Amino acid sequence: MKGTFEVGSVEETWALARRLAAELKPGDVVCLEGDLGSGKTTFVQGLAAALGVAGRVTSPTFCLVQEHGSADGRLLVHMDLYRLASEDDVLAIGWEDFLARGAILAVEWPERAGSLVPEDAVRVSFACLDGEDARRIEIS
Ligand SMILES: Nc1ncnc2c1ncn2[C@@H]1O[C@H](COP(=O)(O)OP(=O)(O)O)[C@@H](O)[C@H]1O
Ligand SMILES: [Mg+2]
Repeated sequence: MKGTFEVGSVEETWALARRLAAELKPGDVVCLEGDLGSGKTTFVQGLAAALGVAGRVTSPTFCLVQEHGSADGRLLVHMDLYRLASEDDVLAIGWEDFLARGAILAVEWPERAGSLVPEDAVRVSFACLDGEDARRIEIS
């Protein structure tokens, strides 16, 4: 699912996340890019709801990584790498282990992961538009 979408509410952002979630499979990496408050964590909340994984999705800025598992074995791992400095740090929080377990990785500040990000990662970038709840979301 590729394209540029303009949304006007949190609900529309969730609806877009739901469409993407339907295409995700274990081991996929979703890179989330955009300024603070542009909607990255909100989008992950939509992914989590669509994947049926438990737990409240909050910003992992302080705890770096949050695991959301479902009863039927699906796993969404939400990482915020802002506070990390290197690929070694990213490995240390379990990047490869999560992928080996078949997680879907949703990653804020993916540039910190450098070459660990696979070529075929889904890139989702967020920008605020005029109007409080308006966002442009580009999926490539
Ligand atoms: N269309 C929208 N999509 C996503 N978030 C929105 C939208 N409209 C308003 N918001 C609000 O913007 C904020 C986005 O915050 P958050 O998802 O934590 O951003 P980030 O993780 O990019 O810093 C939330 O308070 C959310 O309610
Ligand atoms: Mg966030």
